[in-house]
Parts: sequence; C-alpha cells; structure tokens
Amino acid sequence: MKVRIHVHAFEERNSLLIWLKGRPILVVKDGEKLYGMDAVCAHMGCALLTEVKGTTVTCPAHGAKYDVRTGELVEKAHVRPEVMCEQENVALPLKTYRVSVGEDGLLNVEP
Ligand code: FES
Repeated sequence: MKVRIHVHAFEERNSLLIWLKGRPILVVKDGEKLYGMDAVCAHMGCALLTEVKGTTVTCPAHGAKYDVRTGELVEKAHVRPEVMCEQENVALPLKTYRVSVGEDGLLNVEP
C-alpha cells in the first residue's frame, strides 16, 4: 500500500510512525534499507515511539528491545512480573512489513 510519505522524510531522522489501516507502524531506515514493524510493545502495549539505534527499537516504558527486521524481542522489559500485553492483536514476534520506495519517492508498505 502506497503511503503519502516521501523518502526525504528520513533525511533528518531514522524512524517515523505511520498509521496503516488503523494500526501504528514504526518505519525505520538503517543505511539504505527500510523496515516496518507494528509499533505496539508486546509487554504492556506502550507505543514504540522512542529510541531507535540501527535496527533495534527500545520501548520507552520499561526498556524492552525489538529487532525491527524480524519483530523479535531481543531484550525483555526491565520490570517484574513479566506480564505480557493481553490485547489479542499484539503478540511476539511483532508483525513486520516490507517497506520500499516507489519511482515517485513515496513509501510502499506491504504486509
Ligand atoms: S510496555 Fe514496553 S517494555 Fe513495558
């Protein structure tokens, strides 16, 4: 699905939050590659709006880390007990998306 966001949006940042069919998706640029991943943390459902280093996304709430390439949890939340999110549409690994750039420079985001 074409998204009305031009690739130039990544000139001054390495991540963007977009909404696709009512879902928040974090789009990350690492080098020349773009990745997309659901932007809801599987721990307690916080929005993944914060720190992105390379392909690692850190949840601002309790520090869980995800690999945006795979949606896998790479470091658990730093709290006890380890209560996972109970929303039925949030599960590990987080859903990922193929992100490409069209000839017009606009992003394409595909499941
Ligand atoms: S909600 Fe993300 S680590 Fe707790």
